[in-house]
Amino acid sequence: MMYGYFDDKAREYVITTPKTPVKWVNYIGGLAFGGIIDQTGGSLICKGDPALNRIVKYVPQLPSSDFKGETLYIRLKHETSSRLFSPYFVPTLDQYDRFECRVGLGYSRYITEFYGIRSEITVFVPIGEDRMIRDIKITNLTGATVEIDVIPVVEYTHFDALKQFTNADWVPQTMQSKAFREENGLLILQQYAFMKKETAVNYLTSNWPVSSFESDRKRFLGDNEYGTWRAPKALEQAELGNYEALRGDNIGALLHHLGTFTPNETKRIITQLGQTASISSALPAIQRFRSGEQVDAAFTQLADSWNAYLSKFQVNTPDAAMNSMLNVHNPRQCHTTKNWSRDLSLYQLGFGGRGMGFRDSSQDSMGILAHAPDEGKALLTKLLCVQKRDGSAMHQFFPSTMEATVGDSHEMPDRPKYYGDDHLWIILAVTAYLKESGDMAFLDQIIPFYEKDAQKQPLEFATVLEHLHRAISFTQSHKGAHGIPLLGFADWNDTVNLRTGAESLFVAAQFGKALLEMIELMGALGKQDMVATYQSYYDDMKRAVNDHGWDGEWFIRYFDFDGSKLGSKENAHGQIYTNGQSWPVIAGFADKERAEKALNSVNRLLNTKNGIKLSYPGFNGYDPNIGGITTYPPGAKENGGIFLHANPWVMIAETIMGNGDRAFQYYNQINPAAKNDDLDTFEVEPYSYPQNILGDEHPQFGLGRNSWLSGTASWTYQAATKYILGILPTYAGLQVNPCIPKAWDGFTATRVFRGATYQIVVNNPTHVSKGVASLKVDGKTVEGTIIPIAADGATVSVEVTMG
Ligand code: GLC
Repeated sequence: MMYGYFDDKAREYVITTPKTPVKWVNYIGGLAFGGIIDQTGGSLICKGDPALNRIVKYVPQLPSSDFKGETLYIRLKHETSSRLFSPYFVPTLDQYDRFECRVGLGYSRYITEFYGIRSEITVFVPIGEDRMIRDIKITNLTGATVEIDVIPVVEYTHFDALKQFTNADWVPQTMQSKAFREENGLLILQQYAFMKKETAVNYLTSNWPVSSFESDRKRFLGDNEYGTWRAPKALEQAELGNYEALRGDNIGALLHHLGTFTPNETKRIITQLGQTASISSALPAIQRFRSGEQVDAAFTQLADSWNAYLSKFQVNTPDAAMNSMLNVHNPRQCHTTKNWSRDLSLYQLGFGGRGMGFRDSSQDSMGILAHAPDEGKALLTKLLCVQKRDGSAMHQFFPSTMEATVGDSHEMPDRPKYYGDDHLWIILAVTAYLKESGDMAFLDQIIPFYEKDAQKQPLEFATVLEHLHRAISFTQSHKGAHGIPLLGFADWNDTVNLRTGAESLFVAAQFGKALLEMIELMGALGKQDMVATYQSYYDDMKRAVNDHGWDGEWFIRYFDFDGSKLGSKENAHGQIYTNGQSWPVIAGFADKERAEKALNSVNRLLNTKNGIKLSYPGFNGYDPNIGGITTYPPGAKENGGIFLHANPWVMIAETIMGNGDRAFQYYNQINPAAKNDDLDTFEVEPYSYPQNILGDEHPQFGLGRNSWLSGTASWTYQAATKYILGILPTYAGLQVNPCIPKAWDGFTATRVFRGATYQIVVNNPTHVSKGVASLKVDGKTVEGTIIPIAADGATVSVEVTMG
């Protein structure tokens, strides 16, 4: 079944029924203030920290029909009859004549019709503001004169999101609400935890006179809470109770009489949900956002900022679903993931365990570089602050305090406290930033290494370049019995936790790729001695991988602490791993014959119509010596599931081998936009990549989960733009070297690179996959595939003929 469609012109996905298989969400605002809104009006909003400053109570585990966080009731009165419904469908579940949730860039717009009443509600967080706006326009289409009341409702959580659920004694005793009535009849309903009443006050307000309010859930639902959200008892009365809650479950409900609506009349009411230290200091801004013009201006500003962001890279390929993703939804997901890391989604619930991941954010930064290199640099600077002086990295950190942790490895005292891969990602990320921006001065920036206790151990400061050298030297000095890098607690695959001494062939290849980047960088800096040193590290590792890591038809994935193999034909479970094949190709470790064999093995043993599985066959039972992967049933997540993050690496490897058809097949088969015709198996949003899809060893093959915050966003975007379309930043200029399906006639792209705008036309007259026969820049032929760097502000026309 279809649940909506892509409106590419409006840059929206339009959900046309509230009953999607699971909640489909959008992100508004950012970590500073914002969160998630779902297609039925629910919201999960936080300020600064989803764990310790959460505002709205949203419980994803409750059924979809339940009230979640926020809603709006409309009370429609016509002569003697009256009915209550929510224009969001939930929680009243009335029959609708029209339902649209337009998932836009930083906003969602709900256009619905119930009982002849049209509601158009735009929800967003103005840039830089600590408030969420609901801009509500109500139109009377009944043909008769009616009266309408509008009642927005929010349910608050305790600011400590986890305590809300673990402590039903302290939490309810501390929750309080207070009304602040203004002279003009407007009202600000405040809510706070007693200890925070001077520092963090949540509020709900509007730009219409409030005739009455309620702040206690029990009174609102009525009947000792045997009243329901679907039909709250309080809304059977003409007015709410005006009760200022002194404890208990706090809500904010504001009753507005919008008065009489003649046929086709529209009225507009704007609500604000925000947080401030004190209402008096917030008043000027609150008043400003009560004006329709101000709200319109803030919305325009938001739209302009997204337009500016997306305009840096737009494409037109023969594939509509690819265009939808590359022009709107994929870069938006990259930005969202970069901002939120894995902190808050419907799957990662933001209760404080995770913060930002070192490896995750390093990779996320790479997904936004084409659009916002400065934001990438800011994130890289933070990440480098949690790298340790030995070159390894802390696994996670909390951006508000910059406190870092060793991740899950602390749970197993006998295991190493580092991850074999973390620190190597920063090399790939920093060099990608340098190639994008040309900002070589970044290498000289001084950044401290992480010290848990700077009182005990003085901070050591070093240049960014030195940070990169240390990352290499950590892996160079932490190798195992086969000369392959030690796994540490885990590598990219968090869930294979072998005993101390195990080696990772993935880290070996990742090290190879990092060395290639460092060799190129040292060459660009003219440091020939370092080129030679790193070349020798590279050659040694390449030899070790080929001497010990080849299994006949593919590369193995791990050596366990006792030298036994994992990812080999000798294993009953986990015989072959995707990352074990893609990465030796990416690193240039595999010669042509081995690369082809390895990638063909992926195609034969791991590929499915819904994507490439991470490994095969899945483990079938818990084994503490292998770790987290064995906690999943076969086909789920890392245990033989389709872990999407790893798919683009295979696409990249295929483009390196010149296989444009296969690369695109792999791209298309995981493109959620290409699944839009039938989403009943996939279930999750068609406009964002999920982290995982159940593999074919699982009875629910094809079911997607963990949408939005996934490294899939960054890598699929990179695979598509840098490798399939082949538009790749280099130190010398922008390279165009596509690897596309043979059937394509070509494509066009507009790409801003170092301040100049490149208008790229690629023609494929002889229907090849790869190969540039000629490159013309502003009409003049240029040798090779790299466009020389143009002046800042220039517009450059580029014509590539493949052949
Ligand atoms: C999750 C983690 C990521 C890890 C991946 C594979 O996506 O956030 O860090 O690499 O799982 O285990």
